[in-house]
Amino acid sequence: MSVATAAADRSVCSPLPVLGRDVRVPLVTGGEVDYAALDYAASAPALQRVWDDVAAYAPYYGSVHRGAGYLSQLSTDLFENSRRTVAEFLGCRADDQVVFTRSTTDSLNLLAAALPQGTRVFVFETEHHASLLPWEQRADVEVTYLNAPRTPLQAVDALEKALAEREPYGPALVCVTGASNVTGELWPVRELAAAAHAHGARIVLDAAQLVPHHPVDLAELDADWVAFSGHKLYAPFGSGVLAGRADWLREAAPYLAGGGASRKVTRRVSGEGACGVDVEWHTTAARHEAGSPNVIGAYAIASACQALSEAGFPALIAREQELIERVRAGLAEVPEVQVLSLFGADAARVGVLSFVVEGWNSSHFAAALSAEYGIGVRDGLFCAHPLVRTLLGSEPQDPGECGAPEAAPGERSLNAIRVSFGVGTPDEHVDRFVRAVRELVTDGARWNYRTEDGRCVPARSAG
Ligand SMILES: Cc1ncc(COP(=O)(O)O)c(C=O)c1O
Repeated sequence: MSVATAAADRSVCSPLPVLGRDVRVPLVTGGEVDYAALDYAASAPALQRVWDDVAAYAPYYGSVHRGAGYLSQLSTDLFENSRRTVAEFLGCRADDQVVFTRSTTDSLNLLAAALPQGTRVFVFETEHHASLLPWEQRADVEVTYLNAPRTPLQAVDALEKALAEREPYGPALVCVTGASNVTGELWPVRELAAAAHAHGARIVLDAAQLVPHHPVDLAELDADWVAFSGHKLYAPFGSGVLAGRADWLREAAPYLAGGGASRKVTRRVSGEGACGVDVEWHTTAARHEAGSPNVIGAYAIASACQALSEAGFPALIAREQELIERVRAGLAEVPEVQVLSLFGADAARVGVLSFVVEGWNSSHFAAALSAEYGIGVRDGLFCAHPLVRTLLGSEPQDPGECGAPEAAPGERSLNAIRVSFGVGTPDEHVDRFVRAVRELVTDGARWNYRTEDGRCVPARSAG
C-alpha cells in the first residue's frame, strides 16, 4: 500500500461502470432523479465487470470439490483459480492460505476461534465491532483495549508501550483496521506491524474499508493476516476472505465441522460395535470451509480484484482524492457542519467522511437527503460505537425522535451522518450532495419527517 506514491500519480480515470447507475428514484417533493449511492462503506454497488463475469459463468455453475461431471470440474477449477487470483491481489507469501468466508466479520471470528490457547490480543477501542468484539468470545484470551490515539504516531507509541508492558508472553495478536469506516482515515499499518513483530506479536489487518480503495500487499506491509468482504469490494455475492499465515489456521479446530473440511472419516469401534468416528481434517484452507463453497461469491471477488488491478490503483486513487477534496471543500463552506476526525485535517484518507450538522438530528438530515435529493447516505454510530461517541464526546443514550432537532445549537449530537464513495461514483453525485447539504442547512427541510420502526421517514405532508 504505497498511498503517497499512488496519490502522486495524477492520471485521473473515469468512474468504473457499476450497476445501478441508471436507477431513478422518486422524490417526496415530486419528480425523479438518478439515485446517488453514497453509502459505499456499507455496501458498494456491483462492478458491471463482476456482474458480467458472474452472468457468463452462471450457466456453467456446478458443485465444487464434490462432482465428477464436467461442470463440477469447471466450477472447482474456477473456485481454486479465484483463490489464486485473490492471493496475488493481496501479495500473499508462498505459504499463506486464502480462506473464503462469508464476510469480514466471519473472517475475524474465524481467526479468533483459531487463536492458540491463551493468546493475548491488543486492539484499539476505535475498531469496528467486527474487529473489536470477536476476541472476547474466547474465554482463554486476554484482550487489551487501547485508547483512541489522536495521531498515527500516537497509535504506534501506544501499541509499543502496551506490548512492552506485557512481556514476556506467549502468542499475541494485534488487530487493526486499515481505513476507518467512520472517518476514512488510514492507520499506520506498516508501522504497527513492525511494532507487533518487534515484540513477538502477530497482526491482522481489517481491510474491509481499505481494499476497495488502496492496494493491500501482505508481504510489503509485513502483516500476518488480512480480512475483507466482497460486498464492499463491488462483489456482493456473499463471500469474504481471510488470508495470511497458515500455521495457526492449520493447527486450529475447523471453524465449521462437516464435509469439505474433513479428508477422511472412519468408524471408531469398541467391543459392542460402532461408538464414534475418527476424523482427519484437511490442513489446507478447506479445513475452515466446510459445506458447499460459494463459488459465485469467490469468483465475484476474484473478478473485482482483477478489474481494480487492470484499472490501476494509482489512477483510481487520484480520482478518489479529487472527490474527497470536493466534498471536504464543500462541507468546509458550511460552518454548521463538523467533520469527524481522529487524526486531524491533514490525515491520509479514503472516500469515507462522517459529520454532524449543528441543530440537526443526523437521522433527520439523512432522511431529507434521501427523500428530497435522492441521495443514499448512512446515519447512526456505524457499528463503531466507542469511536463515534469519542468523536462526538457523547454518552450512550437513545437518539430520540427524528422529527425534532435533537441537538440544539451548542449541544452534542448523539449520532452522525456518513457519506462514502468509490470507483463508480460520478462527479455529479458528489456535487449534488454538497449542494444538498448547503440547501438543507440554509433553507431547512421542505418536508415533515417522523420516526417509524426506529427509522426517520417522510411524513405525509410537506413542511
Ligand atoms: C472496518 C470494517 N470492518 C469490518 C466490517 C464488517 O464487514 P461485514 O459486515 O461485511 O462483515 C465493516 C463493515 O462495515 C467495516 O467497515
